[in-house]
Amino acid sequence: MLTVPVEIFRFKPGQAQRYDTFTVEIAETAHVIDVIDTVWAKHDPTLTFRRACHHSSCGSCAVRINGAEKLPCIVRLTDVWNGRNPIRIEPLRNFPVVSDLLVEVGDFFERMSAASMTITCEAEGFLPLTVDTFAVAGVLPKTVELPDNLSRFNRFEQCIECGICMSACPTMATDNKFIGPAGLAAIYQARHKTDDPTRVKHLLGLADGEHGVWRCHSAFECTEACPQAVDPASKIMALRRELALRRLRKMFGLRI
Ligand code: SF4
Ligand code: FES
Repeated sequence: MLTVPVEIFRFKPGQAQRYDTFTVEIAETAHVIDVIDTVWAKHDPTLTFRRACHHSSCGSCAVRINGAEKLPCIVRLTDVWNGRNPIRIEPLRNFPVVSDLLVEVGDFFERMSAASMTITCEAEGFLPLTVDTFAVAGVLPKTVELPDNLSRFNRFEQCIECGICMSACPTMATDNKFIGPAGLAAIYQARHKTDDPTRVKHLLGLADGEHGVWRCHSAFECTEACPQAVDPASKIMALRRELALRRLRKMFGLRI
């Protein structure tokens, strides 16, 4: 067992912000989410935070650990604790804080939806597991109820909508209407799934707008922080290239 000091950002509506320090007894193999869970379970049940899957699938647990955006469910305690100083845990930046580590993500999800983020993507030929695979293995019943618009062979997008890139992005701090790295990556994905001219025009129009790709400072901090290797910065650069080429083509009547 380890005895670990942890410093957690606290805020409740109507109260001043502060940091509380706890000393947590925890197994050496623990992840940071276990530290947060232990503070809540053994020290302060008023601590507010979010988590669900415990394996980097739901994106709900995202926080800053020692200043860097992370999913605490996949960060080992021993990778962020130097054996002396408290581990500092804070909510994501660029989101309104609701309570302690919990931030308001409604606006982010609306932005993702407006940017054409879908919860599923085209079936991928190499994907070995489908709902039917699980049904055959007896894990799921043979008849699985799925929403009408969800094919049996779809899978989730790579982006888990954790908001980490929004927190890491320096542009978000200066333009809170910026579509943001995840939203622009979603536009890129959607654009590359369609050749329909009306749809392409709509998507590129969003990317080219006042709060679109040209606001990006090319810091690549989103790509560095993203736990899912979505690489939003490269998608933003690719959208810029397409927009620039289209402009050149229009100006000079070129076939590029
Ligand atoms: S792009 Fe990456 S960091 Fe941004 S919301 Fe999606 S998974 Fe999270
Ligand atoms: S708890 Fe789901 S990503 Fe961390």
